[in-house]
Amino acid sequence: MSNRRKFLQFSLLGGMGLLARKTGFARSEETFPTITGKPVVISTWDAGLAANKGAWEVLGKGGRALDAVEKGVNVTEASQNCCVGLGANPDRDGFVTLDACIMDEFANCGSVAFLERIKHPVSVARRVMEKTPHVMLVGSGAQQFAVAEGFPLEEQKLSPEAQAAYSNWLKNSTYHPPAINVENKANHDHGPFAPYKLENGEWNHDTIGMVAMDTFGNLSGSCTTSGAGFKMRGRLGDSPIIGAGLFVDNEVGACTATGQGEDVIRIAGSHTVVELMRQGLSPEAACKKAIERVARKVKPERVKEIQVAFLAINKKGKVGAWALHPGFSYAIKSNDREEMVTSGSMFNS
Ligand code: GLY
Repeated sequence: MSNRRKFLQFSLLGGMGLLARKTGFARSEETFPTITGKPVVISTWDAGLAANKGAWEVLGKGGRALDAVEKGVNVTEASQNCCVGLGANPDRDGFVTLDACIMDEFANCGSVAFLERIKHPVSVARRVMEKTPHVMLVGSGAQQFAVAEGFPLEEQKLSPEAQAAYSNWLKNSTYHPPAINVENKANHDHGPFAPYKLENGEWNHDTIGMVAMDTFGNLSGSCTTSGAGFKMRGRLGDSPIIGAGLFVDNEVGACTATGQGEDVIRIAGSHTVVELMRQGLSPEAACKKAIERVARKVKPERVKEIQVAFLAINKKGKVGAWALHPGFSYAIKSNDREEMVTSGSMFNS
């Protein structure tokens, strides 16, 4: 098939992005078009569509990618109808604890973790980056810093969905740490950890990761989450960890991760993807290789129970993603595209 025909075929499918998402249309790398126009922003899951719009308010006016990725995920953090932000699933003791990080084209980075009662953790992460000599602040120290920086201390207000899910979970309060890589059948149950399979077979999820390239060709990224639903108090996943949930190298590309954080951390996931792109792999091929590495590190039984996905962009503006299982999709926005794209996956189910 000629490249032009492939491109036209994909454009048609791109116009039916939502249809593609519903039907789980699987792509191969050859059929994925290179994004040549700057700026461009990509972000994980369906919530990415609204988040990209927020980012575009900056990118569309020629603004900096760093400002775009903060503003973009701020939309999701404020939404109260997503598994990110103060309305999200709480930990097993009933408290919503938030993790976020941000990274710019100069390798500046900031992160907060185990942060409570603050609406925009990614903006606090940016202040850590810009106003402190540190990269990470956690827990009460992060909250103290946020308040000193003028962020209001909010009341926790679970969304009706999160309240219902937590009440349901409390009936049994089963807790199965998911990241144990030993012969222990009890730990092969993914339990309450997100993303987890809903009864209808779809994956629940709890993170938004976003990477963007601005009109100057500079890259930045952000990642923000409430973490795994009903997690052990104090548990952190990959999302606030630079190199795991997010990594940006302005010479090469940027990557963000979603899914079972413990298994992303295990391979320093986002950094691994960027390094694979440095070696010449396309974003999709790099994500795919990293997913294969995740799969090699866990027992086959556990691989069926977890979801992990990577989403990446390279310095040429080409984007790509790969997941362990079907069901991962991401949102893309550029000058001529605004749609959901279904990621390929290592397994068929
Ligand atoms: N990827 C989000 C988490 O595991 O917390």
